[in-house]
Amino acid sequence: MPSRQKLLIISVISFILLYILISRSSSTASDPSPHDPSRRETPKVQPAFKQRLIAVGDLHGDINNAQKVLRMAHLIDDQANWVGGEDILVQTGDIVDRGAHALDIYRLMQKLRGQAEGQGGRVVSVLGNHEVMNAIGDWRYVTQDDIKVFGGTKRRQEALAKDGWLGAEWLANYSITASVPLSPHPSSPRLSFTHGSLRPSFPSLLPYPDAINDLGKSLLTKALNPPLNPPYPPSPYSGLPKDHTREEAELYAEGGPLWWRGLAEREEGQVCKWAEELKEKLGVRRIIGGHTPNFEHIVSRCNGSIIIIDTGISSAYGGVLSALEIVYTLTPVKEAKEGHRQDPFILASTIDQDEDKRQGERVIEDEQVDAKASVRGGLKGRYIEREEVHAIYEKRRKWIAVEEREVVLLKSYRYMHRP
Ligand SMILES: *[C@@H]1O[C@H](CO)[C@@H](O)[C@H](O)[C@H]1NC(C)=O
Ligand SMILES: *[C@@H]1O[C@H](CO)[C@@H](O)[C@H](O)[C@H]1NC(C)=O
Repeated sequence: MPSRQKLLIISVISFILLYILISRSSSTASDPSPHDPSRRETPKVQPAFKQRLIAVGDLHGDINNAQKVLRMAHLIDDQANWVGGEDILVQTGDIVDRGAHALDIYRLMQKLRGQAEGQGGRVVSVLGNHEVMNAIGDWRYVTQDDIKVFGGTKRRQEALAKDGWLGAEWLANYSITASVPLSPHPSSPRLSFTHGSLRPSFPSLLPYPDAINDLGKSLLTKALNPPLNPPYPPSPYSGLPKDHTREEAELYAEGGPLWWRGLAEREEGQVCKWAEELKEKLGVRRIIGGHTPNFEHIVSRCNGSIIIIDTGISSAYGGVLSALEIVYTLTPVKEAKEGHRQDPFILASTIDQDEDKRQGERVIEDEQVDAKASVRGGLKGRYIEREEVHAIYEKRRKWIAVEEREVVLLKSYRYMHRP
């Protein structure tokens, strides 16, 4: 090879290397996070189980930014159809108010819920204080454009009533708090999602999440039972429905899960004590919520035990587009025998059928078992459990936590299709 040509090749390669080096160091410079341990090693063995979960905070009537965020998280395509497969989407409330297009976001969530379920995925919807404000007739943050989109005040109230399309959807498919398992195994770790902050001394905290959600449902049912309170303004504020109970009033009070900001705002030492207490009481690994915006980034506190995901996504705020991503995997571990590494993962078909049956109704038999689900098959034995938590933004990702531990799953658990 002529030396000029060699020189050219060498300089091109050096240029490329230099470019990579510079672009890397500049991206870490603008992002002062420590070395991302999720890039540390690539597991040699395929996970037997993988679950991706995306959580999105307050959306406040901005359908465009809502769709952008879901596209950014690879949950929907350009036509806003679900492409998330078996992923889980959690939205932590405040879809309504401030922006004009709450209706479109509720419709989108309704559509995605059905599409996700068709693919083995799931959409989990949490109510915010603004949903309940609208339910009880506190329309202070409802814009005139929003009312127009619903077809006027009367039509809007009809939609919100318990037999209206939106009221019925709230009652059936939304809750005040959600405890979401990361795998279908009965001993799976869970994550807690609530719009505001759960207070350790909140009187109806336990049993979690039913005590809170039962109160939410009864309060909402009363509020959405026609005739609804006349909207304030212009009518005077009517407050909670006349027949509300003391517990329901506590649910909607300043110290309740819809309004309280303690976990977002109090000082770190106090919050971390609360976090430990809550995790223990609720049986969850992380507590995730919205309601208190940080317009620059998702906020992780107490080493990722508390994560606040409201970044003012709506253009009514002009914060940043963000989503929280959690990737949970179980990778089988086998004793290294004679330098032999890994047996292939046991297929569902080889799993003890009787033991499956003992799992009772948790075991889902599905006629149309697709290849991917059957490879994931039964979960039993020793696994490396790994949980990667990232914040996703338009142009960057930032790791929040990576946890790895060895777990032993005692009972065979056959997973086919999510309930
Ligand atoms: C709730 O969601 C399910 C899908 O999970 C859907 O079939 C149903 O229509 C929804 N309920 C209401 C009242 O909108
Ligand atoms: C914080 O979490 C990481 C895993 O994400 C763990 O390795 C570390 O020990 C934790 N630190 C404290 C102080 O708990």
